[in-house]
Amino acid sequence: MSARFSDAWLDELRSRLSIEEVVSEYVRLKPKGHRCWGLCPFHNEKTPSFSVDTQTQLFYCFGCHKGGTVIQFVMEMERLDFQEAVKLLAERAHLPLPAASKESVSLRPDERERIYAANVTAARFFHATLWTDEGAQGLSYLYKRGLTDADIRHFGLGFAPRGWDATLRYLTGESFEEGLLERAGLIVRREGGAYDMFRGRVIFPIISAQGKVLGFGGRAMGDAQPKYLNTADTPVFNKRQGLYALNFVKKERHVGRLVLVEGYMDAVSLRKYGVQGVVATLGTALTEEQARLMKRYAPEVWVSYDGDAAGQKAALRALDILEPTGLKARVIDYPDGMDPDDFIRARGAAGFEALKKYDATEYRMLRARDGLDIATQDGMTQYALKCCQILRGVQSPVEMENHLRRLAAETGYDREILLRQIGASALAPQERPRAFRPRSRAAADAPSAAECTLLTLLSQGRIPAQIVDPGDFDEGPLRECAAWLIEGKSVNAFLERLDGEAREKLMPALNYQPLPDSREEALKMAEDSLNAIRNARRAGEIERLQAQAATADAEERRRIYEKIEKLY
Ligand code: UTP
Ligand code: MN
Repeated sequence: MSARFSDAWLDELRSRLSIEEVVSEYVRLKPKGHRCWGLCPFHNEKTPSFSVDTQTQLFYCFGCHKGGTVIQFVMEMERLDFQEAVKLLAERAHLPLPAASKESVSLRPDERERIYAANVTAARFFHATLWTDEGAQGLSYLYKRGLTDADIRHFGLGFAPRGWDATLRYLTGESFEEGLLERAGLIVRREGGAYDMFRGRVIFPIISAQGKVLGFGGRAMGDAQPKYLNTADTPVFNKRQGLYALNFVKKERHVGRLVLVEGYMDAVSLRKYGVQGVVATLGTALTEEQARLMKRYAPEVWVSYDGDAAGQKAALRALDILEPTGLKARVIDYPDGMDPDDFIRARGAAGFEALKKYDATEYRMLRARDGLDIATQDGMTQYALKCCQILRGVQSPVEMENHLRRLAAETGYDREILLRQIGASALAPQERPRAFRPRSRAAADAPSAAECTLLTLLSQGRIPAQIVDPGDFDEGPLRECAAWLIEGKSVNAFLERLDGEAREKLMPALNYQPLPDSREEALKMAEDSLNAIRNARRAGEIERLQAQAATADAEERRRIYEKIEKLY
C-alpha cells in the first residue's frame, strides 16, 4: 500500500503534520486530556465519540470503531487512494515528494490528469455552446423542462454542437491530442476518421466528489435514439461505480440520508426544488459498488424511482443491493406512475416532504399485492402468504411486531396464525435469503481485556517495550502489531499497511480505556495484564497436559507430571 514511499519519508511527513489541525478542517474538535473530541464524520451521532489522540497522532471513533492515521483520515474524507492522500498532505506540509516516487507515479496518474483536463475543457465548451446560436435548441429544451439560467449554471449543463467534429476541432485547438480524446471517450475513431461522441445533445457533466469531471450523459433532442448517451468506460469513468450529483453531497452530510433516483433530470429537478442529498445512477441498474459508495455519505437511502411498474421492480432490486451493505433503505412510491421530476414540478418540495417513505419491508409487502385481487378470498390468501414469506427476513422483534399487527388488521388473519405461517424458518437465520443474513462478529476471536490493555500501553509508549514479548499475544493482528512495536517501529506505519476493515478490528485494542495517569501506575497495569495473560496461558497448558496424562502409560505419565510441576 505504502510501497512507493519509504517508512522514513512517511514518518517525516507525519511529523510535519498535526492530526488535530488536519481533522479540524472537517470536524469541530474540543480538547480534553491528550485527546480532542468531536462528532464522528463517519456515522450519525449526537454526542461526540470521535477523537484524535494528540500523542499517537491517530484518530478513533469509540462508536463505529473507525480509526487510523492522518493519511488514512484524508483518504476517507476526500475519497482518495493512499498515493493521492500522501501527495495532498505533502503539499500542505511543504515536503517535496521523494524523487523515485515522482517517477513511478508519473505514467498512469498523469494520463488520468490529462483526461480530467480534457473533460473539464469539454464541459466548459458544451456549457458555453448552450448560450450561442448553435445551442439555442438545447437551451429552449432546458427552459421547457422548467430550468432557469441559474439552474443550468449550477449543474454545469451544456449542449454538444451538431455536425461531426466541432468538439474535436475545439479540443485539438486547445492542444489535446486525438488519442487522448479517444481514451477520454469524447471522440470515436473509425477508418473514415474521427468524430464527436456527443452531437446535438444536452449535456449533463458527471462530476466526482473531488470536483473532477469524470464523464458525460447526453440527452437527445426530440425522439432521436438512444434517448441518453453516456460516456463509455474510460480510465477515469465507470458507469457501475460512480453516481451523478455526488459533487454536491459532500456539503450535505448533515442531512443523514441520500435520495437515489434513476434519471439525471430527476436529480436536477429534485435538487432545484431544494431536496438535498440526491444522487442518480448512470444508466445502469444500481450496483453493490454504488451502494458502498453511498454508505460513505449517509447511513440511509431513499429509493426514489419512477412510479411505473418498471420503476417499482427496479426499486425492489435496489433494496436487495442496499440492505446487505448495512444501509437502511426506504422507498418512495410516486402516485399515478409519475417520476420524481413530474412529481416535484406538480407538487413542489412540500409535496415531496409529505410523501410516505416506506421502510423496506413495508414496501415489499406493498408490492406483494400487485396483480392480486384482495377482494377475493384467494387473492387475500395469496397476499398473506407472500407477506409472511417477506417477514421471514425481519430481524428486529419490535419491527416484526409492527408489521404483524398491520398485516393482521389488513388481512383479518389472527396474529398467532400469521406468526405460525412465518414459522420455523424465521427462527433459522441460516436459511434466510442472502440479503438479510445478519452480519455478526465472531465473539470467539475477540482479544482479551489484558491483551488490549497491554497493546494500548505499548502503542502509546507508556511502558518499556522489552517487558513484553509478541508471544504474550494470541496469534493474529494484535501479535503482529505488538511485534512491530517491540522492534521500535511506529504504530502509524503499521496501520498504514492495513485496510479499513482490518483497522476497525484492531483499533479498539489500541484505544483501551481508561488508562492511568502516572508512569508507575501504567507499569503496574502492564504487569497485571502480563500476569493475567501468562497465568491463563499456563493454566491452559496444565489442563492440556493433564488431559494427556489421563490416557498415558505410567512412564509417560511421570514425565508429563514433571512438566506440570515446572509450570507451577
Ligand atoms: P428515463 O428514460 O426514465 O429518463 O431514464 P428520464 O430522466 O425520465 O428522461 P427524460 O425525463 O425523458 O429526459 C432514466 C435514466 O436512464 C438512463 C439515463 O441515465 C437516464 O437518466 N438512460 C435512459 C440511458 O442511459 N439511456 C437511455 O437511452 C435511456
Ligand atoms: Mn423523466
